[in-house]
Amino acid sequence: MMFSRIAGTGRYLPEKVLTNFDLEKIVDTTDEWIRTRTGVERRHHVADDETTSDMCVEAAKVAIDDAGIDVSDIDFIVVGTTSPDLIFPNVATLVQHRLGIPPCPAFSLEAACTGFIYALTTADKFIKAGEATCVLVIGAECISKLIDWSDRNTCVLFGDGAGAVIVKPSDEPGIIGTHLGADGQYKDLLYYPAGASKNLEIAGTDDAAIIMQGNEVFKVAVKTLANVATQALESAGIGLSELDWLIPHQANIRIIQATAKRLGMPMDKIILTIQDHGNTSAASVPMALDVSVRDGRVQRGQLVLLEAFGGGFTWGSVLMRY
Ligand code: ACO
Repeated sequence: MMFSRIAGTGRYLPEKVLTNFDLEKIVDTTDEWIRTRTGVERRHHVADDETTSDMCVEAAKVAIDDAGIDVSDIDFIVVGTTSPDLIFPNVATLVQHRLGIPPCPAFSLEAACTGFIYALTTADKFIKAGEATCVLVIGAECISKLIDWSDRNTCVLFGDGAGAVIVKPSDEPGIIGTHLGADGQYKDLLYYPAGASKNLEIAGTDDAAIIMQGNEVFKVAVKTLANVATQALESAGIGLSELDWLIPHQANIRIIQATAKRLGMPMDKIILTIQDHGNTSAASVPMALDVSVRDGRVQRGQLVLLEAFGGGFTWGSVLMRY
């Protein structure tokens, strides 16, 4: 049986850093409130003229180099993002053009914070079907451009960035199992109110900004993320204690802690980047993976569970041997 395996990782964080102390000057908040309620200490934000595809290109270059491949090897590109440069052409084609990747399938998908998990799952299936041999998978977001900067409930949470991986076929796992889910009944708990066919009149105004029922999101997120992890492990017949690392979507430290408690998972087996990156939506899991691979925590052959939860709601997991 053919498996798919991550051959290289990369990330890009914009230069500009906004600390909690910087935010104290923008909205009525404190470093102490943000740190204790969310775990965020700083986040990176794009420059005015910087876009999601700009970040994707930089993250992809690092992943390509790490995997030791040439751009001409890539035959499939999928980008998970909810903040594309344009409605179309899609971000993956912009990246393809900028990097000089030869013609191949290239598309973006939108599953909010679960975007990268959906994208990686797609790559896994195309490789297993024998229809792709070298996939560039990216999770990237410019969430800072979707924020109401006078809303302290949301503006303190989010950051920008991009994480990329190269996925290739392998005789051994690799990716062991993937599980995706969604339930649209929760659409009003977390959403962005303008698009290409609805509420066009608010596009570009202060009303076009993320709307979130924080407390409600919190409850469903914890329950779902714990269930997602349990489902992934049970279906693979793997016990929690066998797992080397859990890399959850970095939404909020309290969501991660409550999920860990529900699972009975020690916090020292969970990769955390929320303090440095904030919530970067679809970029959070691939960036956390890259951080933990590069600092030597995640090593080849270890069992790693990636999981995410986001607006929609959407959710998903990828269980793999790195
Ligand atoms: N600084 C100071 N006070 C604040 C701030 C802030 N930045 N934001 C809210 N408050 C105030 C509220 O106005 C409220 O004041 P009040 O009691 O006078 O009305 C008080 O703090 C408590 O508000 P709550 O919303 O109850 O605060 P809570 O402890 O629930 O924390 C938070 C809010 C952090 C948003 C929490 O609900 C949460 O973590 N929700 C999960 C949502 C999340 O992580 N979203 C990320 C995107 S979703 C995703 O990635 C899956």
